Amino acid sequence: MNQKKREYPKANVLAVIQHNLADDVLEMKRYGVSAERMAKIFRERGNYVGAHSIRKFLKQYQKKKIGDFESENSYKIEEHSNTENKQWVNQVILKHLKGITPQNALILDAADTQSTKNAIKAGFDSNNIYIPNCHPFTWKTIKRSHKNCFLMTMGEYLKMSKDKTYSYIFADYCGTWNGVETEEHSPKTDTKYIFEHKLLKDNSLFGITLCSRGAKTKRLESLKEILDISTKAKYSLNLLEVKEYIGAMYFILFKVKMEVE
Ligand SMILES: C[S@@+](CC[C@H](N)C(=O)[O-])C[C@H]1O[C@@H](n2cnc3c(N)ncnc32)[C@H](O)[C@@H]1O
Repeated sequence: MNQKKREYPKANVLAVIQHNLADDVLEMKRYGVSAERMAKIFRERGNYVGAHSIRKFLKQYQKKKIGDFESENSYKIEEHSNTENKQWVNQVILKHLKGITPQNALILDAADTQSTKNAIKAGFDSNNIYIPNCHPFTWKTIKRSHKNCFLMTMGEYLKMSKDKTYSYIFADYCGTWNGVETEEHSPKTDTKYIFEHKLLKDNSLFGITLCSRGAKTKRLESLKEILDISTKAKYSLNLLEVKEYIGAMYFILFKVKMEVE
């Protein structure tokens, strides 16, 4: 009988994390096991993660991109100031936005609207950039120069405008993944809403900044939950950047692909 062969998902550094194989890969690497051999061992256990994905994972790990997720206490006060980190984040976003078709954008921004200016630099029309902000003073300041600014939480905004789709979302919360659930202030709930309602277009960019201090969910778990949410909604995410900075913040940037149904 012609049995259908199980297919490996497209090579993706995140496949290792998604299958909960990060620790196994690192352990085997310590013992000098090759990526091909690891892939074979995983296949025998029913996990289809290719050697290419494993090599990519190890490369990112060596570059400290993945390593930053390992320990809740790993954050260190960097020599750079928070402002410099913000500038770095905006620069990498600008670099990746250049590969995106500028349509609608949804941004959590501060009063100086650096992220909005960044998106405009990348070709987004100011009229197509939407900024919810739950703090009256910040909202009032942004509103003076940007008409699409709404005094509400991200969650409220998403529900209000549920038919709008985006080629770029920068959910720059700087809060914990589970958020303050009682106040409708939850990055996790918002992320679920974004993916389940297919608010991100194919080939779009999704950035999120979270804080692990006092968080219920560990960093690696929050990353895994984002991947699980997106996979269930038939998306696939490619990890473009990870940055950890002062105050237990971590920024993650994904390229978002919609799976063909
Ligand atoms: C970290 S700042 C944005 C910084 C900006 N993206 C930059 O790079 O300069 C986040 C802003 O979003 C607002 N904010 C955070 N969480 C929010 C939420 N769930 N809903 C609405 N606004 C939120 C905060 O008031 C703050 O003004």
